[in-house]
Amino acid sequence: MEEMCGIFGYIGSEKASPILSRGLKNLEYRGYDSVGIATVSSRLETRKDAGKIDDLRARLNLDEVEGNVGIGHTRWATHGAVTAENAHPHIDCENKVAIIHNGIIENFYELKTSLAERGHRFASETDSEVIAHLIEDELSKDSSIPGAASSWNGCSFEHACVEAFKKLRGSFAVLAIHEGEEKIVATRKDSPLVLGLADHGTFFASDVAPFLDWTKDVVYLENGDLVVAKRSDLQFFNLDFGEVARPVSTVEWDLQEAKKGNFDHFMLKEISEQAETIQRACLQNMEVVDRIAGMVRSGFGVFFIACGSSYHACLTGSYLFSKVAKLHVNVALASEFENYEHFLTENTLVFAVSQSGETADVLEAVRAAKRRGSRIVSITNVMGSSLSREGDELLLMNSGPEICVLSTKTYTSQVVMMGLLACALNGDHESCMRKVKDLYMDVYNLTSRSMRDQLKALARDLASEDHIYMIGRGLQYTTALEAALKVKEVSYIHTEAFAGGELKHGPLALIEEGTPVFVFVSRDNEDRIISNAQEVKARGGFVIGVADWNNPVFDRWIKVPDCGDLNPVIQAIPMQVLAYELAVQKNLDPDKPRNLAKSVTVL
Ligand code: AGP
Repeated sequence: MEEMCGIFGYIGSEKASPILSRGLKNLEYRGYDSVGIATVSSRLETRKDAGKIDDLRARLNLDEVEGNVGIGHTRWATHGAVTAENAHPHIDCENKVAIIHNGIIENFYELKTSLAERGHRFASETDSEVIAHLIEDELSKDSSIPGAASSWNGCSFEHACVEAFKKLRGSFAVLAIHEGEEKIVATRKDSPLVLGLADHGTFFASDVAPFLDWTKDVVYLENGDLVVAKRSDLQFFNLDFGEVARPVSTVEWDLQEAKKGNFDHFMLKEISEQAETIQRACLQNMEVVDRIAGMVRSGFGVFFIACGSSYHACLTGSYLFSKVAKLHVNVALASEFENYEHFLTENTLVFAVSQSGETADVLEAVRAAKRRGSRIVSITNVMGSSLSREGDELLLMNSGPEICVLSTKTYTSQVVMMGLLACALNGDHESCMRKVKDLYMDVYNLTSRSMRDQLKALARDLASEDHIYMIGRGLQYTTALEAALKVKEVSYIHTEAFAGGELKHGPLALIEEGTPVFVFVSRDNEDRIISNAQEVKARGGFVIGVADWNNPVFDRWIKVPDCGDLNPVIQAIPMQVLAYELAVQKNLDPDKPRNLAKSVTVL
C-alpha cells in the first residue's frame, strides 16, 4: 500500500533520467524514504533503493540512465519495509514492464494469489507490484481481444494496461512503460495525477509544483481517465477507449514560489510569506463569497470538515461564525464525519477545507455528503485538485505552493477566509479586509530577525524537554491546538493543548517543577486565562506568555500585538517560528518531518 508517494514521468526529446531526478527532488515532500526510476531505451532499465534522492542520485548514477521515456517514484512507506525491493518502480517477471503507483490496491491480495498460481514471481511486499504482473499477464494473452478500439492499431501494451487497471480496486495513480515502446500509459482513480505540457515533452506528476521548472501548462485528469503519451502524440481516453477531451490550464504560481530562494528551509520561507499571503486570502470574488453567505443563511445545518491544521482553522472558523455572525456551525474531523451522516440532507451545507485538496478523508466525507444531496463549498489552495472539482462552490486560498510538510501560511490564510465569510454573513466583508490589511506590518515584524533571535533562544532552552503544554480560551484555545501541532510535528516533543478551563479537570496533574506551559492571552478573556496560568505556576510550571503585554505570572514573555478576532493569525506565527527553531536546534529537517507527508491521500 503505497499511500502517500510522489510519482513523476517524462516522455519527450530530452534525456529522461536527469529530468526524473530533478522532478523527484521537487516531489520529495510527498515521501522520502526510497526512490527509483525506470527508463526505456534499447532496453528497460530500473534503478532504485531505500534512501533520499540526493544520496541515490549520486550512488546509483541515476542521471546516466539512457532513454527519452522514464518514470520515477519517491516512496513514503506505510506497508512493507523501507527496502530496495519495496521501492518503486516495480517490474514484471521478464523485466519488460515497469510501473509506479500511488494509492492503495484494496484487492491486491487476491490478485497476487491468482497471479502467483499462474507462476508469477513477486519481489516485494507491496500491493503495487501486482500491477506490473497484471499487465504482463494481459500481454501474454492473445492481443486480438474483441472490442479493442480500432485506433489501437493492434498494439497491445495500452490495451493490456487497461485490462489490468480494470481489475484494480481502491485508489491509484499509475504510470506504466514497456520495453521496446516509447510510450507512457497512465491512469488515475482517487489519487492525484496531473500532466505538464512543454515544447520538448510531456510530464506526469502527483501535483503541479514538481514540473513548474519546465512548464505551467497543465492538464488535470478526471477519475477513470487513461492517457497514452508518445514522444509526439498525446491521447486521452476513458477505460472503455472512448476518447475524452481534457483542457489545458495555466498555473498561476511562478517557479520562484516553489523554490527555497535564500531560505535554508521551505518552512521558514513559507512562514515569512504570511504578511503577503493573508492579504491574498482576501482576494476573493465577493459575489461568490456573498452567494455562499446566502447558502449558509438558507441552509439547514452547516458543517465544517477537515483534518489536521485545516481542522484547527475550521474550529477557529466556528468560533468566528458564532462571535461575528451569531451563527452556529458544526465542526467535524473529516475522518469522523461518518458519525454525522444521518443529519445530512439536501438542505445541509458542507464546507470542506483542505490546502492540498487531496486529503482522502476529506474527499470521502464530501462524497458521502453529496450522496445525501448536501451542497459543498470547497476551500483549497490547489486549483485542479480533486476537492477543487468536487464542490458546488470553490474558494481558492491563493497562498502559492506550500512545500514544507507543515502547514503554516495556508493555516493563517484559512483563518482569514473564515473571518471573511463570517463578516460577509454580516454583510460587511470590508471590515475584515481592512483588519487584515492593518495586520501587514505586525505579521511582517513577527518574522523579523529580532523576533527570530528571541524564539531561537527559547528553543535552545526547550529543546531537551519531553513535554510541552499549551493553554488558551476561546480563539486562543484553537490557536493553542494549532501551535501544539506545529511543535510536535517538527520537533517530536510531546506537545499538547488544553482549553484553559479544562486544566482543573485533569491536565493540571501533568504539571510539575519546570514543566513548560504556553499561555495564549487576549483582552477578551485575560482574567480567566491568567488565573489558569497561576494554577500552573503554583505547581511549579514554567509559564511562557503569548500576549500583547507582560504579566508577573510569566517566566518568559513573547510579545504579540492583540488583534482581537484575528489573534489566531497573529499568535500562530511566533509558534510556527519557534517550532522551526526547535527543529533546527535538534538537527531535524523542518521540511520533511519523520513519519509525515504533505498530502494524506489514503483513508
Ligand atoms: C499540518 O501541518 C499537517 N501537514 C497536517 O495536519 C495537515 O494539515 C493535514 O494533513 C490536512 O492537510 P490538507 O489541508 O492538505 O487537507
